[in-house]
Order: sequence, then structure tokens, then C-alpha cells
Amino acid sequence: MITLDYNRIPRHIAIIMDGNGRWAKARGLERSMGHQEGAQTVRDITEAAAKVGVKYLTLYTFSTENWNRPSHEVAALMALIIESLEEELFMKNNVRLRIIGDRSRLPEFVQKALERCEHNTAANSGMTMVLALSYSARWEITEAVRQLAEQVQRGVLRPEDISEENVQNQLTTSFMPDPELLIRTGGELRLSNYLLWQCAYSELYFTETYWPDFTAEHLYAAIEDYQSRERRFGKTSEQVTTH
Ligand code: IPE
Ligand code: IPE
Ligand code: MG
Repeated sequence: MITLDYNRIPRHIAIIMDGNGRWAKARGLERSMGHQEGAQTVRDITEAAAKVGVKYLTLYTFSTENWNRPSHEVAALMALIIESLEEELFMKNNVRLRIIGDRSRLPEFVQKALERCEHNTAANSGMTMVLALSYSARWEITEAVRQLAEQVQRGVLRPEDISEENVQNQLTTSFMPDPELLIRTGGELRLSNYLLWQCAYSELYFTETYWPDFTAEHLYAAIEDYQSRERRFGKTSEQVTTH
């Protein structure tokens, strides 16, 4: 029996959706079938997160490194991304879509469909679903450094004025708070170049469950686990429990 404290729902949950390929292989199916099933999980988890009041859900959908997969798998994933952008789902759940990542590397038809969906859902005020596409944290941080260097070169920023806030403001995630909770499905215990700056103090939750098998119940169990933890941010336990 899962009991959630509705006053302590994480505002931002980031997920590394892993295990589609192994889910398919275990059933003697093509990897693409795992991705198809995974797309259904995206719909279910989006609804489940919105329902309990999560404000931002950031899903690692395609990493910079994933461009190195066989071209037919990349093509299948691109087609699936488009197929999954069902506006009905966004409208019904009052969800807004945002994209982070190097969009310029995505095929033109994918860029167009994403732009359209972002535009059509921009006024939705419930949860923001953020898809990390052609994203990697090192790419993002490198871009931020380049932007700051350009500002210094133009004379609008002095090197001594560069602060954590400046850096943060140059990241693709500057419109949202850092994730309180990071979930990785599929059993691997690594971050795979995801939100390295933003997850500095996130609570990490790893589960063996493959992404296509991940349900609303699994999500709520992860939130419950998060709520049982004490977030100390470098302080002592006494400091954070006495007011
Ligand atoms: C995650 O599942 C989806 C993407 C990376 C696009 P995988 O495709 O990595 O599945 P496994 O890790 O091979 O099982
Ligand atoms: C991470 O999964 C990227 C996404 C979930 C989109 P991978 O399956 O690509 O990660 P590695 O290669 O096992 O680290
Ligand atoms: Mg994987």
C-alpha cells in the first residue's frame, strides 16, 4: 500500500527511461517493439505524474550518444517520437511540451512536429513534460560556456562576475527548478550524461524494472521512497530537522 504525502510531491522528476531493448529481447521481439511499448509507458507515466501534482517531468528520450546506434534504430525512434506526440493527451491532462537538446541535429520533419506541439500546448498550465532529445549534459555545459565566453568577448560580462547563477541561466533547463528526484529504470547504475549540473543534489532512485514494465504504481513507489529520505544539503541531521 503506497501512501504519498501530497505536501511533499517532488516538483521536478527526471527519468532515464532505459531497458526497452532488453524488454523486447526477453520476449524474442525486435528492439523496436520495446520502444513501441516504451512509448505507451510515456503516456501512462505522464498522466500519473500530472495526477499527483508533479510540475516538471523530464524524460531522457534520445541522447547525443544514441546517434551512434544502427541507423534503422535511430530512424525508428525518430518516427516513434512524432507518433507519440498526441495532442489529445497533452490537452486532456493540461500538459505543456518543452524540448531540451540539440534540435538542429534532428530531422526536419521531427523539428517541425515538435515545434507545432510545443506551440499548441504552450498555454497548458498543469505539468510541463520536457523531452531531452539529442541531449547530453556535457554538450549543454559546453554550449553554456561558449555563450558566456561570447558575452565576455562582447564586453557585457566580466569574468569575475561569472556566478553559478550565470551558468545556470545559460543551460537549456533554465526555465525550471532542478529535479528533486532522478529515476533510472532498467537496472544500470549510471547517469549516462544526463543533467549532470542539475542533479548535483537530486535523490537518485534506481530500479531493475524495464521501462516498458514501469507503471504508475512504480512511479508512486519511487516518490514514496523519496519522501522517506532526509535531504541534508551538506548540513547535519539536527540542522535540517529543528526549525
Ligand atoms: C532506452 O532503452 C531507450 C533509448 C535509449 C532510446 P534502450 O534501447 O537503451 O534499451 P536497452 O538498454 O538496450 O535494454
Ligand atoms: C540512456 O540510455 C539514454 C536514454 C535513456 C535516452 P542508454 O541505454 O543509451 O545508456 P547507456 O548506453 O546504457 O549508458
Ligand atoms: Mg539502454
